[in-house]
Amino acid sequence: MTFQKSVIETIRTRQSIRTYDTQDITESDYKIITEYIDNKQNLIGPFNSKGKMELIRVTDNVTDKGIKLGTYGFIKNPKAYLVGICENNTYSLVNFSYTFEKLVLFLTDLQIGTCWMGGTFSRKSFEKEISIGEREFIPCVTPIGYPKEKQRMFDKALRIVVKADNKKAWNQLFYDESFEAVLDYNKAGPFQTPIESVRLGPSASNKQPWRLVLANDRTVCHFFIEHTPNYSTKLGYQMQLLDIGIAMCHFDLTCKELKMHGEWEIEDPKLERLNEQAEYIASWRIC
Ligand SMILES: Cc1cc2nc3c(=O)[nH]c(=O)nc-3n(C[C@H](O)[C@H](O)[C@H](O)COP(=O)(O)O)c2cc1C
Repeated sequence: MTFQKSVIETIRTRQSIRTYDTQDITESDYKIITEYIDNKQNLIGPFNSKGKMELIRVTDNVTDKGIKLGTYGFIKNPKAYLVGICENNTYSLVNFSYTFEKLVLFLTDLQIGTCWMGGTFSRKSFEKEISIGEREFIPCVTPIGYPKEKQRMFDKALRIVVKADNKKAWNQLFYDESFEAVLDYNKAGPFQTPIESVRLGPSASNKQPWRLVLANDRTVCHFFIEHTPNYSTKLGYQMQLLDIGIAMCHFDLTCKELKMHGEWEIEDPKLERLNEQAEYIASWRIC
């Protein structure tokens, strides 16, 4: 996969788009998207689990098979949807969302708008359109299309409701050596930009549940989730785990662009817990 622009820049400029232009996506862009999702390399995440992505084109939200896809009025003029499919367990969800965010950034780079959706769509309607394996389900979808310059009042109001532009500050998210001390932006060394890329990521209801601890010797960065109690319980899966895959994707792609070499590992550092809601997920180690 090649990005045309700097991925760090793409991470900085991406925003959820809910209103699309009436202009259809060009056939050459559809070809690029199809090649991307058909390339197995692009489905490889930090852990060894499987997932897939499917493209569904729509006209007035109706598919070629005549199925109406429901998005409860949140999305206007989508030209197609990319549908995520994976198994419903912790590391499959984290792995899959890493790959789905890479797709989102790839599309952003192509000037195509996206909006991660885990809740405001009818899973039943999407399930009618695609074939899903026995243990699989749809964790997320994104509409796609070229962004309409003037967004609806609805979009603006929604951004205010979920405080979309309100990204938490470093001292609410990132820690130095243990959860006892917050991480100073100026003391993060080479990890300053990768960690800043995590901060700018999209998350369900903009809750930003990622908590990072940078080791004292600055060779390892541990990723934790602080679960929002009861979030998404009714949906039957832990949607916020998708946020952690997104954070890991932003971190990893930024490190790669900065030519920092490292690997993911699951080695719980057994730190004193931040609180009851906090759970260790993975670590990135320089190598
Ligand atoms: C896992 C996940 C699920 C989301 N689900 C929805 C959704 O169901 N409906 C919606 O309108 N936006 C959804 N969003 C978009 C978030 O509201 C958005 O990312 C957040 O408000 C930050 O805004 P930004 O993406 O413009 O930075 C979701 C985002 C993520 C990462």
